Amino acid sequence: MKEKQIADWILYSTCDEDAYSELKALKVSNEDEVLCVTGSACRVLSLLAEKPKNITAIDFAAGQNYLLELKIAAIKNLTYDQLLGFFGVEQMSKEQRWKYFISLKDKITDEAFQYFCYYCKEIKEGVLYRGRHEKFYVYFLSPFLHFLYGKEFKEMFETECIERQKEIYFKKIRGPFWRLMIKKGFSKWLLKGILNNKDYETEFEVGDLGNYMLKTLDHTFSTHLAKYNDWLSMMINGRYLGRHAMPHFLSKDSYESIRNANTKIEIITMDLVDYCKKVKNERFSVFSLSDVSSCISKPRFNELLSQLPRLSRSRGRLCYRNFISRHKIPNALSQKIQIDVDMCNQLNHSDRAFSYQFEVALINN
Ligand SMILES: C[S@@+](CC[C@H](N)C(=O)[O-])C[C@H]1O[C@@H](n2cnc3c(N)ncnc32)[C@H](O)[C@@H]1O
Repeated sequence: MKEKQIADWILYSTCDEDAYSELKALKVSNEDEVLCVTGSACRVLSLLAEKPKNITAIDFAAGQNYLLELKIAAIKNLTYDQLLGFFGVEQMSKEQRWKYFISLKDKITDEAFQYFCYYCKEIKEGVLYRGRHEKFYVYFLSPFLHFLYGKEFKEMFETECIERQKEIYFKKIRGPFWRLMIKKGFSKWLLKGILNNKDYETEFEVGDLGNYMLKTLDHTFSTHLAKYNDWLSMMINGRYLGRHAMPHFLSKDSYESIRNANTKIEIITMDLVDYCKKVKNERFSVFSLSDVSSCISKPRFNELLSQLPRLSRSRGRLCYRNFISRHKIPNALSQKIQIDVDMCNQLNHSDRAFSYQFEVALINN
């Protein structure tokens, strides 16, 4: 395969969302037909663990869809110990990871196999921490934070007591330097750098991003034990610290459930809005749109929402996340797509992926 035909390396290799919130919101059953944005593939896998009738996973970035193929094949064909080593969550030699990858050749499409052969270094390192987004945490943020607050974070990730965690955060970490760093560090330019994809139509609607991030960090350190928070650990430690703190899709229970699922999975590489415009009526009952709002302009997002009542079965469920943009349900659609205010409030409080606003709605067709 020629170099120019190879899709860009993946941006997202593991989840930065809280699948537990999504599962509470969507209440997926084996009758459901799910439309899901692929992203890092982790949410697709969490939904798959609920064994719906079928899942259509869509992403315009081919690499993200290849990653989904690879993750499904690895879960279905490796033991749990092998899987964690293959993904890079636990120790394994590069040679062994490559051997496992080769053993999955017939379980993924030829395109996906060629893609990962081209990016073989990432497979050998363990693909889960190798997205361009994740490398920012692994190579920059985590070493930087540990240089400044290594001792404090070590203690924080060990404690089982939320009061002790609050004491460490508010008394030992959240001083003038931390506040300055968060307020000035979380800028539009940094996020543009992290979300560096030429196809994204990113809109920045949070006025004071630094202040917003400080508030959400204060909330998360006061509410959720770091020890069990996979995404916080990924950001601060550049990895998951053990089997007690895995993302939902990678827990032993989800692993078993995914292996037993007979769900039909269709993987589509195309623009989500264009896809929704051509899908037949009442095709889906569940819509999991991730934080696609960070990549789509408001007019395009509204175009997408306007298709959902047609695509949805009666009482369809929708969830998505807002981060730097604030794409809400427009008034013109509010009868057909009804935000579940109580559920949003409840999940926004308990959600462990602290930077997002979680939106949950019921769709009447
Ligand atoms: C912001 S990322 C979300 C990653 C996510 N937080 C996770 O944990 O997996 C959204 C994903 O949507 C895809 N995407 C964005 N806009 C899209 C569009 N218009 N059509 C299809 N996929 C799109 C991106 O390629 C990316 O993989």
